[in-house]
Amino acid sequence: MNVKATLLAAGFALSASAAAAADDCTNVGVEDFFDLDEDQVVAVYACLEAKMAEGYAKNDDPAAKEFRDWTVTATRAAVAGPHGGRLLLTFANDVAAESYLKFADEIEMPVGSVLAKESISLSKKKKTARPGPLFLMTKMEAGSLPETDDWLYGMVQPNGKTAKFKQSFCHNCHEGWAEQDNLAYPLEEVRVSSDG
Ligand code: HEC
Repeated sequence: MNVKATLLAAGFALSASAAAAADDCTNVGVEDFFDLDEDQVVAVYACLEAKMAEGYAKNDDPAAKEFRDWTVTATRAAVAGPHGGRLLLTFANDVAAESYLKFADEIEMPVGSVLAKESISLSKKKKTARPGPLFLMTKMEAGSLPETDDWLYGMVQPNGKTAKFKQSFCHNCHEGWAEQDNLAYPLEEVRVSSDG
């Protein structure tokens, strides 16, 4: 190959990969979700929305299949810091919605409440986004789980498999919000207010 042909070939390869990168909406170009503005966060969520639901739905837990039909508790996904710096969006089932949307400082959630929180993970190295786990909290019968204030914590991997972990791993952090029944709530700026 002569020099000109080599350069042309290299140039083509470059522009082809640049085009592929621009087309790929998972390519966020940052190492930290905190560096995205609101519109970019919304775009990343839109990019992965269908893929997340499809993956979680492979799990046997009905919550993992149905949560998208529940009440969404925030105006968009947001990054709070805990939960691995992921983008987070929480849904509340019918039993939980009214109480949860009060975002009250003191609350006792009704038995049967389920909160499902989707997450989007970031690869710092590749600067790309991908579905993260679905985090679940279910309020069980009073007195049934004394170690965790009757909350059952659950985690579904992006591929639909159930993740193994210790209940204390979740509760040791969530009990910091004991007065509001161990709930941490979405960031204030994105909360859906209960009075519409
Ligand atoms: C280091 C602290 C920490 C740990 C550990 C943690 N969480 Fe959370 N969790 C939070 C914070 C902070 C929020 C609220 C942030 C947000 O949703 O924007 C939250 C929110 C949630 C919510 C939405 C309900 C709510 O609290 O408002 C669920 C469901 C949840 N976490 C499940 C889990 C599960 C399951 C685990 C363990 C596998 C876990 N969490 C571990 C801090 C933690």
